[in-house]
Amino acid sequence: MTNPSLRTEVEVLVIGAGAAGLSAALRLAADFKVLVLSKESIRSSSTNRAQGGVAAVTDPHDSVDSHVQDTVTAGVGLCNLPTVEMVVANAGVVVDHLTALGVQFDMENGTPHLAKEGAHSYRRVLHVADATGHAIATKLIARALKHPNIEIRTDRVAIDVITSQGSTSRVQNVLGAYVYNRQSGCVETVRAQSVVLATGGASKVYKYTSNPDGATGDGIAIAYRAGCRVSNMEFNQFHPTCLYHSDARSFLISEAVRGEGGKLVLPNGDSFVQRFDSRGELAPRDVVARAIDFEMKKSGLDCVFLDVTHLSRAQIAERFPQICSRLDSIGIDMSTDFIPIVPAAHYTCGGVVVDHNGATDVNGLYAIGETACTGMHGANRLASNSLLECLVYAKATADHIRGRIKVQETLKEDISDWDESQVTNSDEDVVLTQNWSELRRFMWNYVGIVRTDKRLERAARRIELLKNEVYDYYSNYRVNGDLLELRNLILVADLIVQSARWRKESRGLHFSMDYPQTNVRAIPSIVYPKLDPLDVFHPLPVAAEV
Ligand code: FAD
Ligand code: SIN
Repeated sequence: MTNPSLRTEVEVLVIGAGAAGLSAALRLAADFKVLVLSKESIRSSSTNRAQGGVAAVTDPHDSVDSHVQDTVTAGVGLCNLPTVEMVVANAGVVVDHLTALGVQFDMENGTPHLAKEGAHSYRRVLHVADATGHAIATKLIARALKHPNIEIRTDRVAIDVITSQGSTSRVQNVLGAYVYNRQSGCVETVRAQSVVLATGGASKVYKYTSNPDGATGDGIAIAYRAGCRVSNMEFNQFHPTCLYHSDARSFLISEAVRGEGGKLVLPNGDSFVQRFDSRGELAPRDVVARAIDFEMKKSGLDCVFLDVTHLSRAQIAERFPQICSRLDSIGIDMSTDFIPIVPAAHYTCGGVVVDHNGATDVNGLYAIGETACTGMHGANRLASNSLLECLVYAKATADHIRGRIKVQETLKEDISDWDESQVTNSDEDVVLTQNWSELRRFMWNYVGIVRTDKRLERAARRIELLKNEVYDYYSNYRVNGDLLELRNLILVADLIVQSARWRKESRGLHFSMDYPQTNVRAIPSIVYPKLDPLDVFHPLPVAAEV
């Protein structure tokens, strides 16, 4: 029976309240009623943690062509050139939008102060000290909370989207979503004409990550289950410099610190990255992370160090106030001490396949931000290109939804509420905690920075076991937040491992000791939704040549 108190009807449902979700919601709210969901507090997002800034060409010596070229070079043959051109060319539009919202980027002598980050040919990163994401999130949240057409609900975990069959057997329409309310324990039904997945990335699939706890790849899993293709999942980016300290979990030391001359050193103070790449500390992230991994494994080290002692305390406090004060709180003075660091999972380059409007394979379903695979990042993302992509695609998607809802007939299909008649309360939640940590540990050990066929095969076998166990659990017990996240993480792990096993070469972030060569032809991996469980993998035709 339908329970009206658990039903909501809106024009647009946006799942996720980071840069992508909130900026899409604000653009849509001029015309539509928008419901935004966040699965924890509104501040819990990668956006809120972003440090370095937003890459955008503002220096007259720099050029759009150069930014495009740097992006494509970092992506090692797998960037989609029209996407890169579109995103880079629209940087000015989204920076103006942020400025209009009140974001105040750091200035120097009347022009923006630009940070230098790895593999950028110029200083081109706009920033607000070392807490750019917090500054952007603050303005987006404040504006969204005030907007009469936007309702924000926190502690809501989207479970799955609801779809109907379209006019051909493979085309479906989105009708809404089922949403678990963490406070009441109930599952709510949201009916919507368009649904935007803006749930961020999936780096929580690894034991060590710079991401918040909620980065469990929910949008990728939801889209895949709904019938969307997912691409390039083997390319998970490991940020070279996460703080290694028992009292400070998951804290990033921005690449901008290396941009200001920070050197990576061994415990005895010797620098080493130059031996791996002549660009040294500012080589692309895959190169630097592998160099660190190599040195740590060779010498059995728990961490290596970042040395910024060439900067004075005053310079550090002005340029990196957040990092400086976090390190102070654990007794590390950046101006005199080495900073202990390790690489950690940071960014999901792959995701849901979308077109230039953010549209997925399901009508009315969109994916933006880190959830999507637009072709912007290819096999490795260039620093500070993510916030830019979030904001550009939020606009493109909002524009497309505006056109779609205007021309669309009201959907007539009825949808049923969540059915709990066949399930009971679990008395064995230990299964969830056990499987969570097991999954994240073997993904780190077997599917991390350096891979082999054998390790990937081991991971695949374990994923099969976990899949069966969690599917069984999901079918028999009432859902809760941990179960929903674990279900998604296992699917995402499966997508990563399938894609990594398919790629018989090393390219960008995917490095295999069994296939160290980079093939001449660059082909994206695509996992098709599972129609036949034994035949889920078909590569797209050739995309580009390196
Ligand atoms: P997020 O900001 O992660 O937001 C995801 C939202 O989805 C959250 O509100 C979450 O609650 C919600 N959500 C997730 N699942 C569900 C669900 N099932 N139901 C309901 N809600 C859900 N990029 C740059 O370009 N420049 C930088 O300087 C930079 N620095 C970074 C520093 C750190 C420490 C990290 C972790 C990332 C950094 N990145 C940076 C990457 C960038 O911040 C992210 O890629 C980007 O912010 C992602 O934005 P998003 O809107 O896609 O997702
Ligand atoms: C950083 O500040 O190092 C993060 C930048 C990014 O991930 O783009």
